[in-house]
Amino acid sequence: MKEQIPVGMNRTGVQMSPFETSTMQAGMPASMTPATPGDDTALADMRSQYITDADAIGSVPVPATVQGAVAAGASMMLGNQPQLLLDKLGERLAFERTGTRLYDALITKFEATQDSTTSMTLADLQKIRQDEARHFSIVASAIEALGGDPTSQTPCADLVGVESMGLVQAVTDPRTTIAQSLHAILIGEMADNVGWEMLIALAEDQQQISLISDFSVALDEERAHLLQVRNWLEEATLGAVVSDGALVDDISDANPPQVH
Ligand SMILES: [Fe+2]
Ligand SMILES: [Fe+2]
Repeated sequence: MKEQIPVGMNRTGVQMSPFETSTMQAGMPASMTPATPGDDTALADMRSQYITDADAIGSVPVPATVQGAVAAGASMMLGNQPQLLLDKLGERLAFERTGTRLYDALITKFEATQDSTTSMTLADLQKIRQDEARHFSIVASAIEALGGDPTSQTPCADLVGVESMGLVQAVTDPRTTIAQSLHAILIGEMADNVGWEMLIALAEDQQQISLISDFSVALDEERAHLLQVRNWLEEATLGAVVSDGALVDDISDANPPQVH
């Protein structure tokens, strides 16, 4: 069953006021030239000034343990930037924490709405929620193994905290539907996929081979999450899953998704 979008007294478009719209348009020039003088140059100038004067968003802390300091020092002597890996681990830690909270919020919404626009089950959501929490633990352990402090907020962790605020707001808004919440979660899962791919590449680059097997398991799970979330969103929006660009009328007839 597709999601039902309500039709109502939406006043945001100009067509709600045809008389005022024509009056407004009568005062506008035919070309795209603004009717009022000025442009955004002053705004850009002010932004440029702030950019030039700004400090960086925090820093990566120096490893507090002797073992960590030795490992970081050795890694630097090899020409690596261990702080880069620690920063990206901090980013993944923050995003996986948010991912866990996003699924907590979706589970609450799913239970409250008894939504039937998708084939999603509570067990499906609980499984993904557990995956996200385990991913968080994997990253925390990796940071500790490198001598870092998983409780510290690195610059990229700070950044994704800001970026994902909108996702959390979208899913926790009591008015958003399951489909609308899934759209926000889709953004998170897409970032999850690329994030793990980059983290694996970075760990390989810095010869941190022992981290890669756990990271690869997480990446496989993220690929499955992305496919599932996308399929649920398509079910809620189209009434079916789009497979290979073709609309499949009956979901049960669709080929099972291939996760590579
Ligand atoms: Fe995850
Ligand atoms: Fe995920």
